[in-house]
Amino acid sequence: MTRPLHLAFVTAVAALTGACNGMDMGNMDGTMIPEVIEVDASEGPFEPNAAPDLDPAPNVVEVALEAKVADVEIAPGRTASMWTYNGQLPGPRIEARAGDTVRVRFKNSLPEATTIHWHGVRVPAAMDGVPAVQSPIAAGVEFTYEFVVPDAGTFWYHPHVRSEEQVERGLYGAFVVRGDAEPATTTDRTVVLDDLLVDSNWQLSDFDPMMQAMVGRQGNVILANGWAHPIAGVARGGLHRFRFINAANARYFRLALPGHGLIQIGTDGGLLPAPREVDELLLVPGERADVLVVASGDANETMEWTSLRYDRGHGTGELPDAIVFQMKHGSDAPIATPATPSAFAAIAELPAATVQREIKLEESMAMSGGEHGAGHGSSTTDMAPVFSINGEVFPDVTPLAATLETVEEWSIVNTTEMDHPFHLHGFRFQVVSVDGAAPSVVAWRDSINIPAEKTVKFRVRLEDNPGTWMFHCHILEHAERGMMGELEVAAP
Ligand code: C2O
Ligand code: CU
Repeated sequence: MTRPLHLAFVTAVAALTGACNGMDMGNMDGTMIPEVIEVDASEGPFEPNAAPDLDPAPNVVEVALEAKVADVEIAPGRTASMWTYNGQLPGPRIEARAGDTVRVRFKNSLPEATTIHWHGVRVPAAMDGVPAVQSPIAAGVEFTYEFVVPDAGTFWYHPHVRSEEQVERGLYGAFVVRGDAEPATTTDRTVVLDDLLVDSNWQLSDFDPMMQAMVGRQGNVILANGWAHPIAGVARGGLHRFRFINAANARYFRLALPGHGLIQIGTDGGLLPAPREVDELLLVPGERADVLVVASGDANETMEWTSLRYDRGHGTGELPDAIVFQMKHGSDAPIATPATPSAFAAIAELPAATVQREIKLEESMAMSGGEHGAGHGSSTTDMAPVFSINGEVFPDVTPLAATLETVEEWSIVNTTEMDHPFHLHGFRFQVVSVDGAAPSVVAWRDSINIPAEKTVKFRVRLEDNPGTWMFHCHILEHAERGMMGELEVAAP
């Protein structure tokens, strides 16, 4: 059922061109969502090696990262020129234990300035890698990030300047912090999900801020650990842990393994109080989830992890399901299945909040000036979306004033007709309600989907780290076009 690559590609290009023509003929919101190119499954290094620890001290992890342009193979015989950490896609996985000091010696060998943000890691504000606390690291310059990692969980890193372009070009990597009570599993692998928008030569297609503003830049090639349709070998009978990270600019991954149940054990902020069985898992940009799978089934059986159709607005729900990666049993006799753990540490519910805030996510259409329109911008009929929070368009925002150690309740009100993935830096929160309904589990998160025209409430304790913190939509085109704000947390 997999179509040959070249034929599939022609179809995809045709679909793309059709959508573009549609826009020129009067689709005012400029929505263009390409179809995914189907690629045959192939063996690759399913999970690249972790970054070597350069410091022999037991509680210190030192990693060298260099951002640079490199040619990267993303499918057999398909090489793209990407922006990378250390020449690889994803960047090296950073591995540490909760409580460790992590030191990252970073060199910027890109043609422009950048920073690194440690998404989900509760670092001191000065190490958060956002322009509010650090002027971008210029081309050719080095900078050392150093911080303690307080929590176990699955995190990731990426730039926080011109992120819609720098992340799409390939700048991202996994950051895994292990605790004392990790479940015993046969494997523990990280899967960084992404999609790229490529042209007929498999090079990144042009960045077109106007065309890609509305739903974000959604790609036509899906990558799992930097490879299109890789094969993950799994020992039959084993209990396999997959830590998923959604590093895509805009794509929502609604993950399922048809014919198999999934056991979710963790969210953005580490392990749940207890495993829970799910049929599928929605992972919005920026979000993570830890899942266990029992490899029951026949020798040499193959199973396709699939991203199911999901409607986040503007026609995104019309695209078919897409294959993400293949899981393949070996031919050996099954091994004894390790027991699935029944419980992890309890998560105490945050107490009632003493401060309430309303955060309104908004979108409007405005006449696009020449600066946004590269090649499209001169006609007066060119309207482009503007994204804002509480009426303010980043960077022209008034920081919200807050006090350290306060428990706050935020109501994120999505006033728009499409979903937005909301992310708060520096702290972890507990969702209280989604459209009025309480969630079924207590969990730590830093990223959460806010469905179209719905409200999500969460509680957050502003613990440990004073300073300036960002919050924003993690559809990176939306963040960079204004859907981003600042929280100023001061000691009492
Ligand atoms: Cu993943 Cu503000 O970032
Ligand atoms: Cu958004």
